[in-house]
Amino acid sequence: MKLKRILKSILKWTSLAILLALFVGIIALFIAYWKSTNDCDRHTAAPTNPMKAIIYCDYGLPNLKLEEVEKPVPNEDQILVKVRAASVNPYDWHFVEGTPKIMRLMGVGLRKPKDTRLGVDFAGTVETVGKNVTQFKPGDDVFGGKGGAFAEYVCRRAEGAVALKPANITFEQAASVNIAGITALQGLLDKGKVQQGQKVLINGASGGVGTFAVQIAKSYGAEVTGVCSTRNLDLVRSLGADHVIDYTKEDFAKSEQRYDVILDNVPNHSLSECRRILTPKGKYVMIGGGGPNEARWIGPFGRVIHTLLLSPFISQQMGMMMADANHKDLTVLADMMQSGKVKPVIDRTYKLSEVPQAIRYLEEGHARGKVVITLE
Ligand SMILES: NC(=O)c1ccc[n+]([C@@H]2O[C@H](COP(=O)([O-])OP(=O)(O)OC[C@H]3O[C@@H](n4cnc5c(N)ncnc54)[C@H](OP(=O)(O)O)[C@@H]3O)[C@@H](O)[C@H]2O)c1
Repeated sequence: MKLKRILKSILKWTSLAILLALFVGIIALFIAYWKSTNDCDRHTAAPTNPMKAIIYCDYGLPNLKLEEVEKPVPNEDQILVKVRAASVNPYDWHFVEGTPKIMRLMGVGLRKPKDTRLGVDFAGTVETVGKNVTQFKPGDDVFGGKGGAFAEYVCRRAEGAVALKPANITFEQAASVNIAGITALQGLLDKGKVQQGQKVLINGASGGVGTFAVQIAKSYGAEVTGVCSTRNLDLVRSLGADHVIDYTKEDFAKSEQRYDVILDNVPNHSLSECRRILTPKGKYVMIGGGGPNEARWIGPFGRVIHTLLLSPFISQQMGMMMADANHKDLTVLADMMQSGKVKPVIDRTYKLSEVPQAIRYLEEGHARGKVVITLE
């Protein structure tokens, strides 16, 4: 009887403690939500040295504005770049929409975006350099990645994700490289470990990442199959794909072919379907997390957890990769563009004031290559 009383009491107090912790957690989340703020709430004076940039004070495409903000000043390790072109990535609509919503909990901003600036990929001309910078000089044409690239100027650490632009490509082409080119390169080589003669399938071969991936895989000697829709078959073939699969007519997952590497930009097949067409030691590299209206709360994380749980029990390797923009890989891509092995594909260009339209177009999920913003 005494033991029963003790157990009852433990159960009662544990339940109360859990309820209290939940209550405190909810209150803390509520307070954090309402305290979530950004630069827009702090702005007072007009900029003394203005430049134009896209800013968004609240989540949602209608909240994007072209405004005058303070022109950045490089520190001793940075370069100041006059942006000539920038490119749009699904990354941008993730931040504009604040989806998947779990991102908001992970520091992007619960109620409002913490960082009010947008854009990552840029190409332009170095205007000034900090006193420790030896890699670049004023007048150099460069390309790379830096948050806030939808602007007239960016400051970026010279040792980071920036490289000299090859003379044979335009600023628009160079601006399209950073995220898409690096993702394709790292997905195929670092994760997929693609070797000469291997069979590589690229699902979503006509988009930003896919158009780079087809060319890169081909230049490393792979036998490439590109999955795209009817209207993009010729484009994907022209990039070097040995085989094309029209997803409107044929399901690649039902094929009898086996692939050494699958680079998946469009996660529209289950992991077991993808496994079925991998060789026993094949590698599945998950790149894409789906469109703006898919899995709005957790995005690709459910699928990522699935690959982690599955991995110890299978001979194939499956996992997501996250692009890591850096100088070394940008230089590899610059060399590939210089030698003509890779040529960025540009779908449309928009003006800086048209960034909302450009993002809207990309959100539809049918870009052919890259969508680029041009600046005067
Ligand atoms: N993990 C990372 O580090 C990383 C980095 C960059 C991008 N990403 C993700 O990777 C994905 C692709 O990025 P992206 O820049 O290439 O996007 P994107 O340019 O917007 O891709 C659009 C392309 O996807 C094609 N597509 C749509 N539905 C398809 C289907 N069912 N089968 C085959 N192709 C289809 C479209 O072709 P049609 O018009 O013919 O349908 C279009 O050409 C996105 O989800 C993005 O968020 C991840």
